[in-house]
Amino acid sequence: MPQDAISLEPGQGGLPSVVVRSQLATARIYLHGAHVAEYRPAGQEPVLWTSRASHFAPGKPIRGGVPLIFPWFGPRAGRPESPAHGFARTRPWTLESTGVSPDGLATVTLSLRDDDATRALWPHAFALRYTVAVGPTLALSLTTTNLGPTPFTFEQALHTYFAIPSIHDATITGLAGVNYIDKVDGLRRKRQGGEPIRITGETDRVYLHTTDTCTLHTPTRTVILEKTGSNTTVVWNPWIAKAKAMPDFGDDEWPEMICIESANAADDAVALPPGASHTMTVAIRPR
Ligand code: BG6
Repeated sequence: MPQDAISLEPGQGGLPSVVVRSQLATARIYLHGAHVAEYRPAGQEPVLWTSRASHFAPGKPIRGGVPLIFPWFGPRAGRPESPAHGFARTRPWTLESTGVSPDGLATVTLSLRDDDATRALWPHAFALRYTVAVGPTLALSLTTTNLGPTPFTFEQALHTYFAIPSIHDATITGLAGVNYIDKVDGLRRKRQGGEPIRITGETDRVYLHTTDTCTLHTPTRTVILEKTGSNTTVVWNPWIAKAKAMPDFGDDEWPEMICIESANAADDAVALPPGASHTMTVAIRPR
């Protein structure tokens, strides 16, 4: 497999992106936010969904693909003026390396360090290293290192938007019996029943203390999400009114997507001592 299976090309909005075109799969990863925006295994439909109304601009998050959330999840506790879901998804990342194995597995590694802009929002020295492996599986690995002299606590998510034929016949398994925070019901704590999850209205649930594999089932395929170093799984679909209220989300697009996010959030925030590292991995296996 030649190295030119990977190239650096301008993507939407002229933002620099790493494009993978191998016999195994195609993918596009923006340096903006280290954002995996496209992934399509050979012979399959695209796995990730991106809104036709998404911004592709410096300083603005991309709506779709895999936003990389760090160092807080959602609105920042006690600091509503801070950007939702942290700053990592809107910072320019550094492309560290690319490679292609003899059997065609393409690997892209990006990094982000603290700088004046991040320290103005969050006063910690850190390094993020993110490796994206593109093949029949999309394998994501995010390592966070505390480079400072004091401990810090962070939240994170690989906020995966999946393309689905219709929300009305998609189900999710793997969360039976798990306790969750229901963000559309006053943050009430609830317990998931044993039946597959069906989305029948606005859904925004933070499932806690779960490392289990989740499976997304649709009439055309299943997608398995296996994770390590992640204790939270978030399930989100905005449904009708919230979709209308979001300027970067088409009014009629909500039936085409579902987010199943591998995360460490709320009760599962990670405390990292000086010099320590934490790694979260997610393997996305479309079948
Ligand atoms: C989910 C959150 O992870 O992301 C939701 O649980 C939120 O509450 C959604 O609405 C989208 O967030 P944003 O900041 O990308 O609009």
